[in-house]
This record gives sequence, C-alpha cells and structure tokens, in this order.
Amino acid sequence: MGNNILKNKKGIIFGALNEDSIAWKIAEKVVDEGAEIVLTNAPVALKFGTIKSLSEKTGSPVIAADATSVEDLEKLVDESINHFGSRIDFVLHAVGMSPNLRKGHPYSNLDYNFYEKTIDISALSFHKLLQTLYKKDAMNECGSVVALTYIAADRVMPGYNDMADAKAMLQSITRNFGYILGKEKKVRVNTVSQSPTATTAGKGIVGMGEMLQYSNSASPLGNATAEDCANLVTVLFSDYTNKVTLQNIYNDGGFSSVLPYPGLSL
Ligand SMILES: NC(=O)c1ccc[n+]([C@@H]2O[C@H](COP(=O)([O-])OP(=O)(O)OC[C@H]3O[C@@H](n4cnc5c(N)ncnc54)[C@H](O)[C@@H]3O)[C@@H](O)[C@H]2O)c1
Repeated sequence: MGNNILKNKKGIIFGALNEDSIAWKIAEKVVDEGAEIVLTNAPVALKFGTIKSLSEKTGSPVIAADATSVEDLEKLVDESINHFGSRIDFVLHAVGMSPNLRKGHPYSNLDYNFYEKTIDISALSFHKLLQTLYKKDAMNECGSVVALTYIAADRVMPGYNDMADAKAMLQSITRNFGYILGKEKKVRVNTVSQSPTATTAGKGIVGMGEMLQYSNSASPLGNATAEDCANLVTVLFSDYTNKVTLQNIYNDGGFSSVLPYPGLSL
C-alpha cells in the first residue's frame, strides 16, 4: 500500500511493453500512490506486448498512439482529458528505439534513414508531445512531465550508438521546452537518467550485460532497478517536487559521479 502522494492526480504513461518495462513499474507505482492513468503505446506494441494485463490490473484504458505522429498525440491527449473529465497532472515519456542498434549498424557506418527514425522516435517525439500538451493547454498548473534518459548522452559509451545523440537531444528539449512550459503554464519538465536495466530496449544495446555488471560494481549503491526508478518518478510527479524543473536527475546509485581508476575496488 502506498501513501496516496498522487491522490486525485491524473496522468498518461507511455512505454509499458511488458513486465520488464520501466514504464510498467512506474504505472503500478503511481496507481498504488492514488493516481488515475491512461496507458499508451505504439499500435504494433499493443499487438505484441502484454499491456492488456497491466490495463486490467491498474483499471486504466489503453489508447494507441505512435509517439512520432502529432495526429496520434493530439487524439491521445483529447481522449485522455475526456476520460479523466479534467486536465492532466503528469506524463511519463518512456519511449526509445534505434533501428541501427537493432540491425547491427555501428556508429561509424550508420544507415541515415534509420538514424532519422532513432531521433524521431527517441527525441523528437518528446518535442511533439510537449508541443501538443502546450498548444492544447492540456496540463494542470504544477503538472509534471518526465522522460527517461541514459548517461551515454553525457559521456562516451560506444555501444549505445545513435541512441546517445537522441538522448542528448531529449535532454536539450527538456530544458528548452521546459523553460516555456514553466514560465507560461507552471509545468515542470525533467529527465531521469536511469542505470542500465534489463528490459527489451536495454537488452538491445551492444555490451549491455558487461555494462550492467560494470556500473553495478562501480556505483557505491549499485545499479538502480526499474522499481527504484518508479519511486523517483512518483516523487517527481508529486507536489513534493513543485520547484524541480529543467533537471537531469541521475538514478544510478552514484555511478555518474565516480571516476573509475586502476585499483578502484570493483
Ligand atoms: N533499459 C535501460 O537500460 C535504460 C536506461 C536508461 C534509460 N532507458 C530509457 O527508458 C525508456 C523505456 O525503455 P525500457 O528500458 O523500459 O524498454 P522497453 O522496451 O520496455 O520500452 C521502450 C518503449 O518504447 C516504445 N516505443 C517504441 N517506439 C515507439 C513509438 N513510435 N511510439 C510509441 N512508443 C514507442 C516501445 O513500444 C516500448 O514500450 C526508454 O526511453 C529508454 O531509452 C532505458
């Protein structure tokens, strides 16, 4: 049982594909804390994923939306407001995919059509979402939007490929659109930089197994799990963080502040 810190709050959760998804854990947690949610994912993910069982468990409708389609996003926001009978308090963007990673194209031999898809799905979709929320004045004051990112946006991690560029852009959009949403609508926008986590997207990254082990031993607190991420994101959706915005918050057991050196006990 939670503490009802999201009582009366209504939110949209992108990206729950299956039980391993970080968004899945976040959906369960926010509902446990008293929120009402709408679940959304790409039409193809609704076909192959297991979101229906999450929908039943959390008593929430599922509305299909390709996050790269402004038309789908507009429909999603309209239908969510209709469903809640009010504006929206929080939105989770947990969307990412790189066709180059999937098809094994290294960073030095990218397919540029795939590269554009990576950027569109993993970064531009966030701008499209924020612009849709902004134009429709869809968020309540003190609302909160969170997107998930990874430290490869800040440091070189060769296996992360073109997703590193997408995440750097995602973090930049967070600051630039977050400024406008903060000034004009009093809405917060932040990213959470999560430890490597064994999800469908996570397992697609080259060298993920080694990275999981390495960061787990280099971090003083060890890797943050999807459940740890759910706890942090829940607080970011709550009124306890009303003045936190334009930030990239590391949920990584301290990894981002450690400089590994020979002799560091790993
Ligand atoms: N797993 C990790 O190690 C890790 C670490 C840091 C950040 N992240 C980020 O967390 C987020 C969630 O990923 P995850 O690890 O839970 O994996 P996941 O595979 O469970 O989730 C990725 C989601 O993106 C959705 N998606 C892909 N294309 C889409 C589109 N066009 N429209 C709408 N949805 C689309 C997928 O259907 C899926 O639900 C991603 O942004 C990912 O980059 C993951």
